[in-house]
Amino acid sequence: MGHLELRGLRKSFGGQAALAGLDLELARGELVSLLGPSGCGKTTALRIVAGFETADAGSVRVDGHDITGVPANKRDMGMVFQAYSLFPNMTAAQNIAFGRKLRKKADRTGELLELVGLGHLGKRYPHQLSGGQQQRVALARALAIEPRVLLLDEPLSALDAKVRVNLRDEIRRIQTELGMTTLFVTHDQEEALAVSDRVGVMSHGRLEQLDTPSVVYRQPASAFVAQFVGVTNTVLGTAVAGGVRIGAFRLATAAAEGIADGADVHVIVRPEDIGVAQHSGQDNGALVGTVVAQSFLGPVTRLSVRLAGGDQVVRVDQPSSRAGDFPVGTAVALDLAAARLLVVAV
Ligand SMILES: Nc1ncnc2c1ncn2[C@@H]1O[C@H](COP(=O)(O)OP(=O)(O)OP(=O)(O)O)[C@@H](O)[C@H]1O
Ligand SMILES: [Mg+2]
Repeated sequence: MGHLELRGLRKSFGGQAALAGLDLELARGELVSLLGPSGCGKTTALRIVAGFETADAGSVRVDGHDITGVPANKRDMGMVFQAYSLFPNMTAAQNIAFGRKLRKKADRTGELLELVGLGHLGKRYPHQLSGGQQQRVALARALAIEPRVLLLDEPLSALDAKVRVNLRDEIRRIQTELGMTTLFVTHDQEEALAVSDRVGVMSHGRLEQLDTPSVVYRQPASAFVAQFVGVTNTVLGTAVAGGVRIGAFRLATAAAEGIADGADVHVIVRPEDIGVAQHSGQDNGALVGTVVAQSFLGPVTRLSVRLAGGDQVVRVDQPSSRAGDFPVGTAVALDLAAARLLVVAV
């Protein structure tokens, strides 16, 4: 039995399905991210769990108890929203103390301020705090009620990149320290991969895949997941016996099994999984092309390679220390032999 369970959640707005049967189970102390494009139902799911929205069908359970009909203020859930939602007329400390006062719990404000790294700023009002500091207060306020479950709806999206990375690591540290079961909504895939025990990739109101960050990245369950999580190439080819043909090149792979010969397919492959070598010019049946652009990304340099005999461009990552071997204009042979491939019928 999971600590938090979402079972068959459905919700429509004006005939449009926002959630189309969402099932999800979180173990105690687990952080699961819901990742997906705008409008796929992430906030709706979180609001139903929090009790701010009623589902058309399905249930929410905590420790096996059905809480679907329990009002939001009786659910013991801490929530942090995307936009700052602090009470503007209260100091940081008063914001944090608010929920505990309502619940007549002993004051722990000082401790919570320390926990989120704001020990010295308790007397400040929200307008005297930076965006990152305000979200720390919002997090402390959510934690102050000692919730059973923590719900985070894009708590970092209004912050600049550096602060975002610091605060996400901080949230993960605090969440792990407190063993808090957490549902974290984001549309930032890097953020989801970095902090989660498991990532749920959503599309059109349901989960496409739910697994650890490395499995979601390495073994995407569908083209949608592969394309949404990380950078990937989608190369057009044709299914043939034992593999795929891309132009004149024949790629032997088991990934196309079950697809009818002659069918158009997309070969989905990540830039870091493709090998590259200078091409001698001899036609030895390799997948060949020409480097048409290089973009320096720090540790790696991404080569854009236009495949011979067409206009398809494949992105290939090379350690930046080797990128000098492949200046624009270089003829190269690409090696997909060892690559993890996903082949889907178009
Ligand atoms: N109160 C509402 N009334 C009508 N439609 C709504 C309402 N709330 C959500 N929707 C619709 O439901 C769908 C899912 O919305 P939701 O806010 O859950 O998406 P999201 O995944 O959180 O997107 P984003 O990443 O943009 O925040 C959208 O099509 C949205 O327009
Ligand atoms: Mg949202």
